[in-house]
Amino acid sequence: MSHHFVRFENVHYTYPNGYEALRGVSFCVTHGQKVALVGTNGAGKSTLLLHINGLLLPTKGSVVVGGVPVERKTLPLVRQSVGLVFQNPDDQLFMPTVEEDVAFGPSNMGLPAVEIERRVEEALGAVGALALRQRAPYHLSGGQKKSVSIATVLSMEPAVLVLDEPTSNLDPQARRAIIRLIRTFSHTCLMATHDMEMVWELCERTLVMREGELVADGSTTSIFEDEALLERCGLEPPYALWRESHETQEEGAECFAEALSAETR
Ligand SMILES: Nc1ncnc2c1ncn2[C@@H]1O[C@H](COP(=O)(O)OP(=O)(O)OP(=O)(O)O)[C@@H](O)[C@H]1O
Ligand SMILES: [Mg+2]
Repeated sequence: MSHHFVRFENVHYTYPNGYEALRGVSFCVTHGQKVALVGTNGAGKSTLLLHINGLLLPTKGSVVVGGVPVERKTLPLVRQSVGLVFQNPDDQLFMPTVEEDVAFGPSNMGLPAVEIERRVEEALGAVGALALRQRAPYHLSGGQKKSVSIATVLSMEPAVLVLDEPTSNLDPQARRAIIRLIRTFSHTCLMATHDMEMVWELCERTLVMREGELVADGSTTSIFEDEALLERCGLEPPYALWRESHETQEEGAECFAEALSAETR
């Protein structure tokens, strides 16, 4: 469990229609890091995440998870350690009831019934969705589906948690439950998101994508302080930081105006 790093080396991916969505992406996430992947719509975040559990395989370059190269023949092994929550929960939920969906992974692992039950309870509890246990997934709201789809992955107790837009569609309490859960997750976690407040709160490191390329990789603080980078990549810092910098600028402008009027008096 202790070496679940994720390494991309010069990864290119071209969709069957010829669109090159990843253009030479390289990075390495070490065990236990919480890393955000940010970028505008269409930057290539989901495409990148789908490579971590081999749902997409690179056209060129390589992906290695915990020392195992992600290839067709290693997929069962890779998927034992990587839990991927899709951007669209409808891609994740397919059983008649929520509890069957959450139990699906542990059942496939051949775990005893009592352990499956423990995992279902724990995973649904962690996302605040225990009350939905008996419900049909296709009758749930968008946010409820999102929470349940995260539970289906948590029940597998993955060593690498990959989340595509974990807080989209969630109400404030459900969002807070997911943030709490990610904070307590002690293994590797990589998440694509537009929720910059969450990035600021949770992730020590941020990767920035633009048109299929990784254009920045650094501490979240350094990324959010780089106004030129944010502007170039169509991003905004979290509101708290934005306000701080604007208040500082406004204060600066007020001081300047005062000094100017004192001088001209
Ligand atoms: N199946 C596909 N066939 C062809 N092109 C695709 C396919 N899926 C995605 N793309 C294209 O690849 C690029 C990257 O898409 P991707 O879904 O990875 O972006 P994203 O960064 O996750 O965006 P968002 O923030 O909207 O989720 C986009 O230009 C998209 O149109
Ligand atoms: Mg996406």
